[in-house]
Amino acid sequence: MNSIFHRTSVRKYQDKLVEKEKVEQMLRAAMAAPSAMNQQPWEYYVVTRREMIERLSESTPYTGCAKEAPLVFVACYRRECLRPMYAQIDMSASVENLLLEADEQGLGAVWMGIAPIKDRMELVKKIVGIPDELEAFALIACGYPLKEQTQQDRYEEDRIHYIE
Ligand SMILES: Cc1cc2nc3c(=O)[nH]c(=O)nc-3n(C[C@H](O)[C@H](O)[C@H](O)COP(=O)(O)O)c2cc1C
Repeated sequence: MNSIFHRTSVRKYQDKLVEKEKVEQMLRAAMAAPSAMNQQPWEYYVVTRREMIERLSESTPYTGCAKEAPLVFVACYRRECLRPMYAQIDMSASVENLLLEADEQGLGAVWMGIAPIKDRMELVKKIVGIPDELEAFALIACGYPLKEQTQQDRYEEDRIHYIE
């Protein structure tokens, strides 16, 4: 898939809204992810309310780039699921799928870590009004990229160990 080798973290966006169909397609990709025992613990908030995006952008020292984004996804997981110890791992697969689909749609996005830092998880829950049965996992700012970016080649042959 080309997006794997094209995606980069995009932190600056054009002043342009993201179409509803594209948002839905990214969420479809997020929910197509593998998960432990197929437990699918995810729930997503799609935030376009400016005042809430601003508050989210101030929720950690590293989320400032969300401030100008037209859209922020708040990736959450259900506290009660079949294998809670795998829920955050499942969410990582889901968020990566969302990022790849954003790239596929000509959009840019950046994953901003919230879990597993408890204070940040609580703060994001409070800002968004997320109910108790969910945990906040990550913020994903998304929009049309301000400029084209090139992915670094991170392939390192000496990290591969063939056993034949
Ligand atoms: C778990 C996780 C947490 C991250 N948190 C942040 C963050 O808080 N703020 C940010 O600007 N980027 C964040 N990033 C993006 C990384 O900085 C970025 O993926 C990394 O520098 C590699 O660059 P690339 O995504 O362009 O390949 C995070 C990425 C991951 C996987």
